[in-house]
Formats: sequence, structure tokens, C-alpha cells
Amino acid sequence: MLVSFLSKKILPVLGAVALAAMVAGCSDAQPPASDPAPSKAAAPPPETELNGLTAQELKDIAIFEQANGDSHGLTPKQVATTQANMRKDPIFRNRFLGVWTVQNPSDAWIVMEILYEVKPDLLVEAGTFHGGSANLWAIILEHINPNSEVITIDIEDKREPRAKELPIAKERVTFLLGSSTDPKIVAEVHRRAKGKKVIVLLDSLHSKEHVAAEIEAYKSIVGVGSYIIVQDTPLGPKAAIDEFLAGTDTFVADRKRERYSDTNSVRGYLKRVK
Ligand SMILES: C[S@@+](CC[C@H](N)C(=O)[O-])C[C@H]1O[C@@H](n2cnc3c(N)ncnc32)[C@H](O)[C@@H]1O
Repeated sequence: MLVSFLSKKILPVLGAVALAAMVAGCSDAQPPASDPAPSKAAAPPPETELNGLTAQELKDIAIFEQANGDSHGLTPKQVATTQANMRKDPIFRNRFLGVWTVQNPSDAWIVMEILYEVKPDLLVEAGTFHGGSANLWAIILEHINPNSEVITIDIEDKREPRAKELPIAKERVTFLLGSSTDPKIVAEVHRRAKGKKVIVLLDSLHSKEHVAAEIEAYKSIVGVGSYIIVQDTPLGPKAAIDEFLAGTDTFVADRKRERYSDTNSVRGYLKRVK
């Protein structure tokens, strides 16, 4: 979820290339001549910082949304501006229990309230990234519903070791490798969701087409009173949501959830009402 919305859309094209190049420059910096030559066993040099982000973080940001292609619909100028903003955005320095977590705290708070009200048995998250958000949802849910679990899906396993080693991850989080719209993944999620109260949280590829396909794939496992939560809606996802809501009377955008002005889920809290 999370990101100042423009942020996420950028990296793909110019972003990935430009940032990766810049980062390569940072991380390749040579130690001063007076430093002893590093031995093979020596610890790696400290990461170079830029705008408060480490070289590794910048590298990760650069690959963060590569999969978005040009579906963000931004002009090159907007891409450049967003890239610059992204490197300053404090959201990209958020960690949960030490794991990088790209959540807007305002939206994470709203998700926490929805979890408490709905008390689901299962939260299905599309978009794992480093694994921080899946653990965050699982820890909150543990205190709400002792039988709850989280399924988190990503096309790549980028989870930090710590994200996998936390007791909460071992006990309650299942990672599925693949696209959230791959029929095999969808079938597996439906199998695991049978008979359960489910919340779906979409934070993977933020293109209109992908989010529309995700909503279509998972809407039937969300019961009345529960939610599909769509993050980073302002660009692609919002168009998908508008089309979806125009063609159904079973879900509505629960706008009262948007009480924080910095929400990245504009019209993204979709409540099933019948
Ligand atoms: C915005 S990040 C997720 C952030 C994470 N939820 C958090 O709060 O830290 C988006 C993730 O979606 C993944 N992704 C991209 N396309 C995907 C797809 N088709 N299916 C599942 N995951 C996808 C990316 O690899 C990336 O790790």
C-alpha cells in the first residue's frame, strides 16, 4: 500500500533505469586511498546514504514498480518529479519490526480498524514486497481472531530473512509465489478461502487492467460486510474501481474510511453490501 501515490508509479520506465544508474554510482564508491585494502572476510562497507535512504533502499525503490510498465500514464516530466519526491518520501523509510514496509501509516491505521470490525479469518494480500505489511496485518489479526491467517502473493520472493523468521510469519503467514491473477494462484486462494470470512487487500501492480482483473478474481470470496481494500488508487486502480462500481450494486466505496487527507486509497475501501 502505500506510497504517496505518484511515487509508486514512476520507477518503471525512466525511474528504474535512472535510479539504478545513480545507485550503482553510489554503491561502487571506492574507499579513500588511506584505508587498508579490504580483506575478503571484511564486513561490507557502510551503505552510502542519499536523501536519508541507503544505497540498498534506493536500489530497491528503483525496482519497486518495474512491473508497472508505462501503465501509470504519467508524462516524462511527471515521472521525473515523482522520482525526486519518492527519494524524499518518508513512507519509504517505514519499517515494521525491522522489515521494510511501504505502507502509508494513515491507511494502515484504517486497515487496522476494518480488521477489528470485520474480524476476518483470512486476509489475502496481493503485493508482498519485503514482507512487512503481511506481518503487520497478521499481528493485528492475531489479537482479533485467534484463528486468523494471512496469505500474501508476489511475483517475486523479495522477503527479507527477518520477515520470514518472525514467529508471527511462521505461525500465520503463507506466501504464494506467482501473479495474483494467475488462474493457479486464484484457484489456490479460493480453495483456502472456502468457508472463511475474508478481506482482500490489493497492493501489487497498480495498473487499471491488473486491478480490474484482481477485483474480478477475488470479489466472490468477500462476504457481505467485508471489504476489498485497494491501495494506491489515484492513478490506474481508481479507473478500475470506477468501472467496477458502475457495473455492480454489491459493493460501494466506503468513503468514511478516507478521513485522513493523505489517504492513498481514494475510493479504495470497497465494502460488500449485498
Ligand atoms: C507496492 S509493493 C507491495 C508493498 C507491500 N504490500 C508493503 O506494504 O510493504 C508491490 C509488490 O507487488 C508485486 N507485484 C507486481 N506485480 C504483481 C502481480 N502481478 N502479482 C502479485 N504481485 C505483484 C511487486 O513485485 C511488489 O513487490
